[in-house]
Amino acid sequence: MGEKVIRHAGHAIGSTKPRLAYQTEKGKLFLGPAEKLLPHRLLKPMRKQVQLVFTSPPFPLQRQKKYGNRIGDAFADWLAGFAQPLTDMLTPDGSIVLEIGNGWNPGTPTVSTAGIKALLAFQEAAGLHLCQEFICFNPARLPTPAEWVTVRRTRVKDSFTRVWWLSPVPHPKADNRRVLTEYSAAMRKLLKKGSYTGGQRPSEHRIGEKSFLTDNGGAIPANVLVPPNSEQVVEPEAILPIPNTINNSPYHRRCREQGVARHPAAMPEALVRFFVQFLTDPGDWVLDPFAGSNTTGAVAEELGRKWISLEADTEYAELSQMRFEHVTKAA
Ligand SMILES: C[S@@+](CC[C@H](N)C(=O)[O-])C[C@H]1O[C@@H](n2cnc3c(N)ncnc32)[C@H](O)[C@@H]1O
Repeated sequence: MGEKVIRHAGHAIGSTKPRLAYQTEKGKLFLGPAEKLLPHRLLKPMRKQVQLVFTSPPFPLQRQKKYGNRIGDAFADWLAGFAQPLTDMLTPDGSIVLEIGNGWNPGTPTVSTAGIKALLAFQEAAGLHLCQEFICFNPARLPTPAEWVTVRRTRVKDSFTRVWWLSPVPHPKADNRRVLTEYSAAMRKLLKKGSYTGGQRPSEHRIGEKSFLTDNGGAIPANVLVPPNSEQVVEPEAILPIPNTINNSPYHRRCREQGVARHPAAMPEALVRFFVQFLTDPGDWVLDPFAGSNTTGAVAEELGRKWISLEADTEYAELSQMRFEHVTKAA
């Protein structure tokens, strides 16, 4: 794995000595770089135990954030170095879910392919299967880069991140019945009526009069994850409770109350909730190697899953304790 040490906020992430930062009833947050923690004896008991790795790695942005992201193509090599160590943590039917944002090439209105290259490099490094790609749509994203979107007006607003679901096996544990969404009004009407006009569709699929008319208690969600206030453009069955802004979560509220800056890249809790429910059972282990504000740990705890989170930045690790009611700090 890369030797390069990233500096930010006056200290080097790569130099943090691995240690337990705090623990809760269901999980532990370890402080230190994931490169050092994954092979460390502290995590040895977790090998082959983790049902889901869910993470949002430091994005391949061209502009460095405080939390120290690799820039451009170096990101692919760096991320690929984690593929095998993370796969080694998985149960035989476990999954890895990566959220990777889009980035722009500096000084030009062209999009960086670093995130896609990183995904492919990661997949190949551990021989993983791509189970499905998801789009996490967020219409509230700022219209950036301003130069191209709001000044020259030659690009439109970039408003989604990609979420990739991978696994060492083609049939990892998954059950979409645990993530059903509300039926649309049209579907509810059809279910009530009990039949519709069958026959061949323009797509050449032949549909029977009763096909798809079983009431399963909810709709199977689409792989475009959409915030709830987008009802005007999509059917309710496509909508997950992913809030447009996440400023009202208890973590954000507590950060505001205590006058501390929150993590700049905290994920919507509903995004994590969707994958934890879809891909794990209560009691399973969930691991986030780039935990940030520890959204993953908090959601896992709420859903009765056990969790392990890793974070290299002391301040973020400290701050993330605010997500939990009861925390035991390491001595
Ligand atoms: C995109 S943020 C994750 C945000 C997180 N999903 C949340 O909801 O708050 C990436 C995090 O990875 C951390 N990080 C960067 N390099 C790391 C490394 N080598 N090992 C562990 N954590 C690292 C950064 O400090 C940052 O908090």
